[in-house]
Amino acid sequence: MATTTLLNTQKKESRWGMTKKNVIWKRKDLLGLEDLSADEIALILDAAKSFKEVSTRKVKKVPTLRGKTIVSLFFEPSTRTRISFELAAKRLSADTIGITANSSSVLKGETLKDTAKNIEAMNVDVVILRHSTPGAPHLLAKVLGPSIINAGDGAHEHPTQGLLDLFTIKEKKGTLKNLKVSIIGDIAHSRVARSNIWGLKKMGADVTVCGPSTLMPVGIERMGVKVTNDLDQAIEGADVLNVLRIQVERQKKGLLPSIREYINLFGINRQRLKNAKDDMLIMHPGPINRGVELTPDVADGPCSVILEQVANGIAVRMAVLFLVTGGKE
Ligand code: CP
Repeated sequence: MATTTLLNTQKKESRWGMTKKNVIWKRKDLLGLEDLSADEIALILDAAKSFKEVSTRKVKKVPTLRGKTIVSLFFEPSTRTRISFELAAKRLSADTIGITANSSSVLKGETLKDTAKNIEAMNVDVVILRHSTPGAPHLLAKVLGPSIINAGDGAHEHPTQGLLDLFTIKEKKGTLKNLKVSIIGDIAHSRVARSNIWGLKKMGADVTVCGPSTLMPVGIERMGVKVTNDLDQAIEGADVLNVLRIQVERQKKGLLPSIREYINLFGINRQRLKNAKDDMLIMHPGPINRGVELTPDVADGPCSVILEQVANGIAVRMAVLFLVTGGKE
């Protein structure tokens, strides 16, 4: 059974090659990849590898979180993350309930903290939060007993997206160490970029960020990444291209002269990939603006692992739910 295998992996050397000592998960919450050590990331990835098999079974369920209650609060739109967490929780046999801002008493003026305190009073075990304010999950983690999982906080972090991206790269390439990963597009407004950079750097990858100067955060080099505005330079020699969504909902006006100019300079199409490595992976966290960040033939082409990222998200979120709830059956 997946969880038995998982418990065994905690006693052995990590299959992800990062740890030679026993690493036990001690955190109540998962707030970001900035906080995690390489060993903790490796532990989650190992656990996800064990859980991935559950989703291939005829009966896609293990009893691991039977009796646990998981509430998801999505105060921003989501397709992938919300469904993925819900499926992960259900496949672990947890009881789940989800609400959005539109269906909660936040619309009547209740604060996030009061909403969360009321949910805590109903004796839940895990709260999964997506919120437009950076740090919102960190606030709840300080004041609430249940585990808090950050499902995306503004432009700050999206740790489970970062983890599923790392998992997918490792699964395809066999290692993260010394891989060349280029992250393309709207770096400034992207929580996915931040979580990827923290995670990839800790696991030994070589990260380049590429995008328009107006969408590049000041001081991003301090995260240990190379910075370029030249897409051809970012593509040449890359093992992975992680292409980000243009986050129009977070951008101030005037950051891009026009979408047409963005497509000309930073859009990925087959012609732009002529000097790419044959086995370069194309990734995108979704949702894709087809024809803007990626042309459809690239998004659906042989190098694309975009839907594999989505599939791996369930295993990664099963692992995270398992670990924050104590890592025991
Ligand atoms: N990648 C991602 O976070 O997608 P959703 O916004 O659909 O959850």
